[in-house]
Amino acid sequence: MKHPKHHPANDVSLAPSSRPTIADLIDRDENPRRQFLKGSSAVAFTALLGAGLPNRANAYPTAPAAIGGLGFTAVPASVVPMADRCTVPTGYTVRVLMGWGDPISGGPQYNPNLPQTEANQLLQYGMHVDGMEFFPFAGRGGLSSDRGLIAVNHEYTDQLLLWNLTSAPAAGAVTLAQVRASQAAHGVSVFETRKSGGAWQVVRPSAYARRITGNTPCRISGPAAGDALMRTAADPTGTQVLGTLNNCAHGYTPWGTYLTCEENFNGYFGAVGAFTLTPLERRYGLSAGGFGYRWHEVDARFDMNQNRNEPNRFGWTVEIDPFDPSAQPVKRTAMGRFKHESAMVVVGADNTVAVYSGDDERNDYVYKFVATRKYNPSNRAANRDLLDEGTLYVARFNADGTGTWIPLVHGQNGLTPANDFANQAEVLIKTRQAADRVDATEMDRPEWVAAHPTTREIYLALTNNNRRGSSPASANATDGTTTAASARPPVDASNPRSNNIYGHIIRWRETAGNVAATGFEWDIYALAGDSLNASPNLQGDINGDDFGAPDGLWFDRDGRLWIQTDQQGDATGDWVNIGGNMLLASDPATKEVRRFMTSPPNCEVTGITGTPDGKTLFVGIQHPGEDWAGTFTSKSSWPDNGLNGPTTLSGAGPVKPRSSTLVITRDDGGKIGAI
Ligand code: FEO
Ligand code: CA
Ligand code: CA
Repeated sequence: MKHPKHHPANDVSLAPSSRPTIADLIDRDENPRRQFLKGSSAVAFTALLGAGLPNRANAYPTAPAAIGGLGFTAVPASVVPMADRCTVPTGYTVRVLMGWGDPISGGPQYNPNLPQTEANQLLQYGMHVDGMEFFPFAGRGGLSSDRGLIAVNHEYTDQLLLWNLTSAPAAGAVTLAQVRASQAAHGVSVFETRKSGGAWQVVRPSAYARRITGNTPCRISGPAAGDALMRTAADPTGTQVLGTLNNCAHGYTPWGTYLTCEENFNGYFGAVGAFTLTPLERRYGLSAGGFGYRWHEVDARFDMNQNRNEPNRFGWTVEIDPFDPSAQPVKRTAMGRFKHESAMVVVGADNTVAVYSGDDERNDYVYKFVATRKYNPSNRAANRDLLDEGTLYVARFNADGTGTWIPLVHGQNGLTPANDFANQAEVLIKTRQAADRVDATEMDRPEWVAAHPTTREIYLALTNNNRRGSSPASANATDGTTTAASARPPVDASNPRSNNIYGHIIRWRETAGNVAATGFEWDIYALAGDSLNASPNLQGDINGDDFGAPDGLWFDRDGRLWIQTDQQGDATGDWVNIGGNMLLASDPATKEVRRFMTSPPNCEVTGITGTPDGKTLFVGIQHPGEDWAGTFTSKSSWPDNGLNGPTTLSGAGPVKPRSSTLVITRDDGGKIGAI
């Protein structure tokens, strides 16, 4: 079948027809002192919003500002039998704010005893929350810490849970209605939240609430827009694509937009009938069967035999204006195409904009994009397409502690037509293959990037890697895929363990503190590990509580480093002294790491963000109780078991787990994590 260019339920903006602007937000704010920002409107607003980014220091301090240590008592590791709840330190409170299937503004509540429908899901919080950002409204004397918009990713779907099944549909039995429900559970939610009577609540209805899904029209911009490899029968211009998928980590800009990163997009595509992969498709992990979503069986857009170029339109970083529910998301191709993790924006002292991003695959790379134009703090509109033009670099970590950013520019470093790069568009569409040619360093699965708020020092989580060996470092280029069993590069100084099941955190400083520098110095912040592991090499060097598989990294505004984990082994085997997944805080001055929160079984902790005053954290719990055997309540019935506060589904019958967003506050009203 042929897929219509515009699916009828594409853009599910719930907003009124009038477009709110930043100035409107300020006008609407109930704060009697809103005159503070009126008149200067967007200028002041965006300048204040940007104050949360590491862009304030004119000099480049060589040491982080002291935070004086961590001000909470560590919670114990969650070990078997694991508690089916989130646990935070004494003196703190954790509550569920919103879960999968809750209405984001109004409309029906998800019923766990029925199959999810597209129509309902378009009005409800998506599945499996991931990266998230709090965008404050203007408030008393600056930015509000009581009211804001949250933009949040919905990375993927557990389709049996979504479809209310206990086993996969038989061959040929997947329906388009099921696939549409799954696509609608993907993407991004924007919702409004405020603190009222001392408690955070979702504002319903809200003019800003919005779902962006796997079918929402998105504009393609930047150098790859319109390239022959981006064109399809439904979009002969190569400039409009339906949807954003596998939105994992994220970023935000000082001009108040959200960046959502497309990670494992390859899994949604398949092929009906005979199919032979090209080198480009192999390098991005595409396959005839996909990851088992089976969309390609009924939605021709995901059948590569019918739409060969559709996968090229995924794997990008997408910019969304959370304050304008009618604005189309934009895929910014200048930042490259890979399995994006994070789009950490760092603004230099001269307003140069850099964006750091990892490619989460075993033995793949770390990237930096440097925009050509500078950030304009006094004109929001001037920054609108700033991320369309610039230079993409890939990192080489040298053994002597220095590093080099290698430009991926057409005509340089062998990125020429003779090597199958016709133009810069192809360099970007084939970013992985371009990086394979320039001797970049193959890393242990780059996950989130975080930038210290004053030093601009960059921290990167390398979550784990079980594929190292003795193949040449050029294995990527010769195998065509990093996941091939033969692609086993040797260890190196920046990835020093051969079977790195626990991962590590690496950090670097750009030369002279210049975000546009092509050189840097790096060191390893922590080798994660379990101090009870029999292998000394895997015990790690953590100063404090053991953890493994660091995934999400985030700095709060004071300079505390927060670490979220995503390990698959839960609390047994090699993880006995670690327990289940957790959130930890670390003091960069001492490298001390302390466990702040434990989580329900078989989940992943993700999505950390906070209010400007540091007194509220928002955190995500993804895939609680994940069980591919389809027995959903065997490991978790959180959060509707009520153990972290009442939820909308309390008492609603069979209690299935739901990915949800948490709000964490301190009972004495203080800053989270502070002394
Ligand atoms: Fe979606 Fe790499 O985590
Ligand atoms: Ca992740
Ligand atoms: Ca992960």
